Amino acid sequence: MAVLEIRKKGDECLTKKCHAVTVFDRRLKLLLRDMRDTLIDSNGVGLAAPQVGILRRIFLVNDDGDIRVYINPQILERKGEQHPVEGCLSVPNVFGKVVRPMYVKIAALDENGEPFEEEAEGLIAECFEHEYEHLDGHLFDEKVYEFVEPDGEDDE
Ligand code: NI
Repeated sequence: MAVLEIRKKGDECLTKKCHAVTVFDRRLKLLLRDMRDTLIDSNGVGLAAPQVGILRRIFLVNDDGDIRVYINPQILERKGEQHPVEGCLSVPNVFGKVVRPMYVKIAALDENGEPFEEEAEGLIAECFEHEYEHLDGHLFDEKVYEFVEPDGEDDE
């Protein structure tokens, strides 16, 4: 088990556009294992590679204990609207309402480089958008339209 340090707002890794993954080797698998350990340890819903200082287009989502990996993700479709209160492991103790699509369809590669597509609604759709934005160097607080007091919401 290797829990990586989570970079916090102000760290330049969180402001960079990440590069695509091109090599699916043992080193990548070790990174994914460490990111999985880190996501579990932090009780987060999602974790993007730049949050652990790796400028690659990778994120993980914890869907109620089912942890899935998305490499070089692309958002294919968005529908509807929701107004969740979000947080982020890289922006501690800050929570706020953002506008997100209710439905997101995503294409990505798995840890072996195999392509897949997935549809999600609600929390996981929100999480796809939030994590995807990390890969382009954006944090959720840029999009908050109303900050709220911390109340134990899950971090992402
Ligand atoms: Ni985040």
